[in-house]
Amino acid sequence: MDLLTLNQLDQVDFVGVIGFVFEGSSWIAAAAWEQRPFATREVLHAALCAQLAVAPLERKLALISAHPDLVGRAARAGTLDATSTGEQAAAGLNALKAEEVALFDRYNAAYRERFGFPFVICARDNKKDAILAAFPQRLQHSREQEIATALREIERIAWLRLADVLEP
Ligand code: GUN
Repeated sequence: MDLLTLNQLDQVDFVGVIGFVFEGSSWIAAAAWEQRPFATREVLHAALCAQLAVAPLERKLALISAHPDLVGRAARAGTLDATSTGEQAAAGLNALKAEEVALFDRYNAAYRERFGFPFVICARDNKKDAILAAFPQRLQHSREQEIATALREIERIAWLRLADVLEP
């Protein structure tokens, strides 16, 4: 779809097209719709991120928590949606050895135990080795640092998803 068309949609249809870019948090697109029209994809993305930035902490945590674990149970069972399946495959996470799967399990569990939410990294920007290197580093951060990092990664994930559905 092009931006001209998106700008003309009513709120329900607008959310229907781009509501998915922030995993499970279509309220972000619904709120940003009030600011249409958007001149560029960059301006639209900035408006979406601005809604997220001013949201209460509980909403930010709910957004982070909506992300499926990388190489998690859903990924292995094949029950992820197409978007997440594609993103995990882009990082090469769909073809791991058993030892690597076990390593992801341990890291995912340790991260969740420490911070109370899942590890979020933009899987399309990071290959398996970069992700496995990020786990031990990020496990040393404070919870505040990790909330900020997760939200930054989520903004990047949202940008790539927007670019998938909107012509430049
Ligand atoms: N969980 C952690 N990173 C990601 C990602 O890039 N995409 C999806 N769908 N889930 C994730």
